[in-house]
Amino acid sequence: MTRITTPFDARTTAAEVLAGVDLTGRRIIVTGGASGIGLETVRALRDAGAEVTVATRNPGDGRQPLDLSDLDSVRAFTAGWTGPVHAIVANAGIMALPTRQVAANGWELQLATNFLGHFALVTGLHENLRRAAGARVVMVSSGAQLGAPFDFDDPHFERRPYDPWVAYAQSKTADVLLAVGIARRWAADGITANALEPGYIHTNLQRHLDADAMRALGAMDDEGNLLTPDYYKSPEQGAATSVLLAASPLLDGVTGRYFSSDNQEAERVPGGAGATAGVADWSMDPVAADRLWDHALAATAAR
Ligand SMILES: NC(=O)c1ccc[n+]([C@@H]2O[C@H](COP(=O)([O-])OP(=O)(O)OC[C@H]3O[C@@H](n4cnc5c(N)ncnc54)[C@H](OP(=O)(O)O)[C@@H]3O)[C@@H](O)[C@H]2O)c1
Repeated sequence: MTRITTPFDARTTAAEVLAGVDLTGRRIIVTGGASGIGLETVRALRDAGAEVTVATRNPGDGRQPLDLSDLDSVRAFTAGWTGPVHAIVANAGIMALPTRQVAANGWELQLATNFLGHFALVTGLHENLRRAAGARVVMVSSGAQLGAPFDFDDPHFERRPYDPWVAYAQSKTADVLLAVGIARRWAADGITANALEPGYIHTNLQRHLDADAMRALGAMDDEGNLLTPDYYKSPEQGAATSVLLAASPLLDGVTGRYFSSDNQEAERVPGGAGATAGVADWSMDPVAADRLWDHALAATAAR
């Protein structure tokens, strides 16, 4: 399969990706669209004419309530949606909670928020996506997917020791596998799905990191001052790949792919220690994608 390239690079902003693109009449949902990368995603899509629904835990002006870690909340959101949806940007996320936390139903909180809630959201809106004819699902994953496969034996860390980064990595691998699963199932409905890593961006996502972890990223000095290393992106640049996959005509018909923060399709690599760039084989594995789909379907139906 030929790797897809675009004219953009790591410094391109979301507005630049959508320059000249008219999204009038497109209805787009952005989860976690009230801060960080999501906020800039919403801005760029709205500026291009889309009707954007911001789905967030803290509803305010024009925002819809949605707590992805609570299936009742997700179901209320999908039940209340009428008409087509042209794109869902599954952007909301939490990272590296220092201790194991669980949602009300017992699910490990990063998996519940980053993956299972989004699974329930997109499957709950399947018919609305189908009606849009040409709808797109965008999974905001992370380079962290290189760090761990999905653990089908113990996804909620009930028997293995909890590790903040393994839990985050697993949830982000699951996000990519969801894009692969949708690509395998919903092509006949005209629905495409792709995943991405936005790059490194200072946002609220890092709120659970201690000073040592921030220093390891090169993002804090010895005095505790925030640093912005050269490889960091601004939020406007961080949203570029999300809007590329959600709305750029360059991606028409493209499905089941993973894009890096330089706005190019990523190379497939073996995941694990030492992997620093690309998408892990375990994140793109169609067998794992099908198994995860069945797992998530059973899990979200049962609760
Ligand atoms: N920033 C980076 O360097 C980076 C790198 C790789 C990947 N990513 C990914 O990019 C995405 C956006 O993150 P960000 O960096 O923009 O961080 P952010 O500013 O913290 O945004 C995350 C959003 O997710 C929302 N959220 C968290 N838990 C939720 C829940 N249970 N239900 C609904 N919404 C919830 C947050 O809402 P609240 O305001 O209510 O908390 C927030 O709006 C995430 O998926 C993240 O994993 C970011």
